[in-house]
Amino acid sequence: MSLLFDTIESGRDLARQDLIDILNLTDENDLKRLFKAAYEIKLKYIGKRVSLRGIVEISNKCRKDCFYCGIRRGNVKVERFELTRKQIVDGLLTAFNFNYGSAVMQGGERTDENFIEMIESILKEVKERTDGRLGITLSLGEQDETVYRRWFEAGAHRYLLRIEASNPELYKKLHPADHKYDRRLECLRSLQRVGYQTGTGVLIGVPGQTVEDLADDLMFFKKMDIDMIGMGPYLVHPDTPMAQEFPDFEHKRKDQLNLGLKMLAAARLLLKDVNLASTTALQALDPLGRELGLLAGGNVIMPNVTATEFRPGYQLYTGKPGLDENSEQSRVALEKTIAKAGETIIYNEWGDSPHYFKRSS
Ligand code: 5AD
Repeated sequence: MSLLFDTIESGRDLARQDLIDILNLTDENDLKRLFKAAYEIKLKYIGKRVSLRGIVEISNKCRKDCFYCGIRRGNVKVERFELTRKQIVDGLLTAFNFNYGSAVMQGGERTDENFIEMIESILKEVKERTDGRLGITLSLGEQDETVYRRWFEAGAHRYLLRIEASNPELYKKLHPADHKYDRRLECLRSLQRVGYQTGTGVLIGVPGQTVEDLADDLMFFKKMDIDMIGMGPYLVHPDTPMAQEFPDFEHKRKDQLNLGLKMLAAARLLLKDVNLASTTALQALDPLGRELGLLAGGNVIMPNVTATEFRPGYQLYTGKPGLDENSEQSRVALEKTIAKAGETIIYNEWGDSPHYFKRSS
């Protein structure tokens, strides 16, 4: 054990086995020590700073059928919604008016030309109306490289596409046969070729996954030279096939939270200068989950700026927090808890990943 902490605290490069050992830690004092070490690395590479991205959940219509996800195509119980162009623009401008500096458009995957066109024109409009000052990230799934390029040229500069599981065998277990691992990987490469700051991530603690898989996920982020990580613990959605494979989920909430936090800490220790999101899934497991994530190495929080009436439609998992509050309430609540964690919010900056600039120089 002390050998592991020697490695962690000396800042030496972590090997795969160190990552596995980190993910296997259970003792509360060991966890505290781990999170503290990761926090120190965050201070060194990023500072005592948190960047915010206002997230607009634009639609829950999705062509994909992922076994874990509440808005999968096959879930007939969800009422489908789609924000209008104006509602999306308003959401993005809310993020701008809150001085968040940056916003994310996220939604179910669609690839029809109408949709592609609409995103492109929204990007152009919002860029213009904010004098180019609002940074815009997209999280709209797998698209052709030409589409990624169109959106990039229209003003998006970051893109999130989780690999979900870097082990192709596990990926197969989590998705129907026509959801191809290789295609997803190729999309990540396209995003990097086009010039996006590229983010990816995985589900943490999903049935069938081992700690070795998770260690390999972290090595995958490193090998792929990823700029941003968005990953969070898996949470059961009852109207999905995967729910059956995790019947005792309710008793495992604390374990899921801790596994999520250990992954954040390990990612910070391994990758050092990336943007690392402290995700809403952590908050779903513990009201202070996102703040704990900041203290375990995270430096990005994505507050919801979707209009309250549409929030219930976008439940990838149940127990998603903040469904009944408006964007202003989300903002105030978040500012308080971030201050409590002793961190400073960076306003009016894009909050780019320091890693990206090293990668591109
Ligand atoms: N639990 C946690 N995260 C989930 N996602 C989808 N379903 C779940 C779930 N049940 C994540 C996926 C996707 C992101 C938008 O939400 O990783 O990439």
